[in-house]
Amino acid sequence: MDRAPSPDPNGFDPAREAANRYGRFSPDGSEYWITDPATPRPWVNVIANPRVGLVVSQTGSGFSWIDNSQLAVITRWQQDLVSDASGKFLYLRDAASGEAWSLSPAPTWPAFELYRCRHGLGYTTFETVHRGVAAQWTLFVDARETVEYWRVELRNLGDRPRSLELTGFLEWNMGVAPSPRREFTRLFLENSFDRELRAVFARNHMWEVPSQRWGHWNTEFPYVAAIGCSEPLVTALGDKGEFLGRHGDLRAPAALSRIEWQPDFGRHGDPIAALRAPVLLAPGELREFGFALAVGTSEPATRDLLGAALAPGAIDRALDGVRAAWRERLAAHRVVTTEPTLDFLTNDWLRYQAIAARLWGRCGYYQQSGAYGYRDQLQDSQVWLTIEPERCREQINLHAAHQFADGSVYHWWHPLTEQGHVTRMTDDLLWLAFVTASYIKETGRFDVLDDVTPFVDDPQPEPLREHVGRAFNRVLKRTGPRGIPYIGAGDWNDGLSAVGLEEHGESFWLAQFFAGLLADWAEIHRRVGEGSRGADLAACRDLLVGAVNQHGWDGGWYLRATLDDGSPLGSRSNRFGRIYLNAQTWAVLHDVAPPERAAACMAAVREHLVTGAGALLLAPAYAEPAREIGYITRYAPGLRENGGVYSHAATWAIAAACKVRDAELVALLLTAINPALKDPDRYWAEPYVMPGNVDGPDSPHFGRGGWTWYTGSAAWLHRIVTQWVLGVRPEWDGLRIDPCLPPGWPGARMTRPWRGATYRISIERTGDLPDGVRTEVTLDGVRLDGTLLPFPAVPGEQHDVRVRCR
Ligand code: GLC
Repeated sequence: MDRAPSPDPNGFDPAREAANRYGRFSPDGSEYWITDPATPRPWVNVIANPRVGLVVSQTGSGFSWIDNSQLAVITRWQQDLVSDASGKFLYLRDAASGEAWSLSPAPTWPAFELYRCRHGLGYTTFETVHRGVAAQWTLFVDARETVEYWRVELRNLGDRPRSLELTGFLEWNMGVAPSPRREFTRLFLENSFDRELRAVFARNHMWEVPSQRWGHWNTEFPYVAAIGCSEPLVTALGDKGEFLGRHGDLRAPAALSRIEWQPDFGRHGDPIAALRAPVLLAPGELREFGFALAVGTSEPATRDLLGAALAPGAIDRALDGVRAAWRERLAAHRVVTTEPTLDFLTNDWLRYQAIAARLWGRCGYYQQSGAYGYRDQLQDSQVWLTIEPERCREQINLHAAHQFADGSVYHWWHPLTEQGHVTRMTDDLLWLAFVTASYIKETGRFDVLDDVTPFVDDPQPEPLREHVGRAFNRVLKRTGPRGIPYIGAGDWNDGLSAVGLEEHGESFWLAQFFAGLLADWAEIHRRVGEGSRGADLAACRDLLVGAVNQHGWDGGWYLRATLDDGSPLGSRSNRFGRIYLNAQTWAVLHDVAPPERAAACMAAVREHLVTGAGALLLAPAYAEPAREIGYITRYAPGLRENGGVYSHAATWAIAAACKVRDAELVALLLTAINPALKDPDRYWAEPYVMPGNVDGPDSPHFGRGGWTWYTGSAAWLHRIVTQWVLGVRPEWDGLRIDPCLPPGWPGARMTRPWRGATYRISIERTGDLPDGVRTEVTLDGVRLDGTLLPFPAVPGEQHDVRVRCR
């Protein structure tokens, strides 16, 4: 899938790599290179495997966790996007001059002669040159083990020998974070130094979570962590006061210049780990070092992990392993379009973001969650569908097991403690049906319906079809006299938290969403020989569609909801929030709107909601809190759901534009939402991942992005670019080829697995199609009648698909 060679002999093409004053993509897009650390906000990487992870910004600030990025945070960190200088660091000290500096900008802010931070898929590397020493510090986690590595390379660039000291530093958190009551929590922490293993161990005798058996806060933190160094001559410190000195700080820790370090470990300090190794470098000499942070469930387990991680060659093997794992994971599904940064996002960063930050880490710099959102990670798991669909199935089963016997579900729950949040949100439970239908369309594996899982409050396992059935019944029960489901304490939009607390307020969006699911599940039941259940669901859908069109049309667009007192939300009669995006886009996506209404409501979207920053969630923003609507009205105007571009919903607008075949709108929205095409001084956020939100026009900072990484928009944008813009979409009877390319694109290409075969699809725009034909598809040289690719006959086969479209 190579593209034409770049005109620059060095392979550098600033336009293609979206260079800006802070950084740019690497030529193949798989790394983002930051060359000026003074980015307007932290530009971070979220590095994770299914169990451990870390966040690291371009300054070096960040932290590490295991299994839950809120309840089981290993190292201490302060969320401070302005100073961005807290966490775990490496120092280098010149023994002759006494000068000490960090191997990342924070926390000592050296005037580096060279600085580059390379965020890659699964690793971040800081490359610096200072005082004649070139350093590379790479942070990553093992592809499988619960081990974080720091790989360090130091090279003496000068012509005299150098005597240096390399010191690794972190503060132990070992439990729930954020943890503002350090004077309390540290009373339960313990650290120790193992001279033989050259490692500092840490444990916590009290974990601030309820324990089933022993009551409140009366349980041991179930992990032991240790950080060790590959160098034999390591000395260590364990107390923060000893390391920093009274009134000292991370810019100039007092202990760095002290020759003797007295052991200060135990249960009575403020526990940190500082490990110092002497480094002698001859002129030109290059040396490598490794640090490993291992976390196990017992001291022997952690010791074993650390021993293996510090063995000769282990760190390089682990780094090769993690890079290969990401490459292979993402390799099977690739695209080439006219916009290189869209390719970088689609091929690497969106799925990396969804997997590392959403599914595995459940964490970003703006939000440490650790919990599974019922609707959230189900939607995220769509990224597995084309590459490792069984992982999507695992996610489906995990969520099915977090449903109650009455069909309702946790809004979110915490793995490790299984604490969950019961709410009166009304859509969560339906996403199980949504993602299951997507899984079946992609894989043809109807047997997923027979996967059995228990309910939270009933240990009797039931098949998935029963779980979905109970969710449907619950929604049908929670439907008002006009045939529209109640909104309760919110649907998809968490902030509509008071609209229907009395169970009168209705949700037109929920009705539209449900209508699409009923169509899919009518088909699923028909195909597994449950025709009468299928017919019931189809009839239900018809009623719902009728009710939405009867009661939900506001003249020019669809209402979003009604409040408990019956008054409309998202209506031209409202002062604020006159039009909501989701009630238009899903009317289109789920075929609820008849053609003339689809055209009208999308025209209204264009008129009232489309901006150069993407489609707004609603307009105009609420300028004052409205208790009867909910906390959405309490955000500052233009921020997040209150009239901002909420990226998750903004991606749906792209799909809806494709569906009504408004290619110009597709082009506009696709460009508007692309973080790599922004002016970073205005936009602020990372150019290589999706933000949760961008300020809308009612904010003085219109166009400013925030809440990056931890957003459902990453998985969705990937799905929409591949399935709607390039138009390659699994349907019940085959793979639909229905592109809606932006007007300027001459074509596009995609390689994609489908049902065990590989499809190489090349799309070409042409003016030369017969009247009435929009798309013409040729499969292995044979012209198809229509645009649906049949199922492959033999697994492993390869197919060439040529598409000509208008
Ligand atoms: C947050 C929630 C998500 C919700 C969205 C819109 O991202 O995690 O579940 O759909 O906000 O309110």
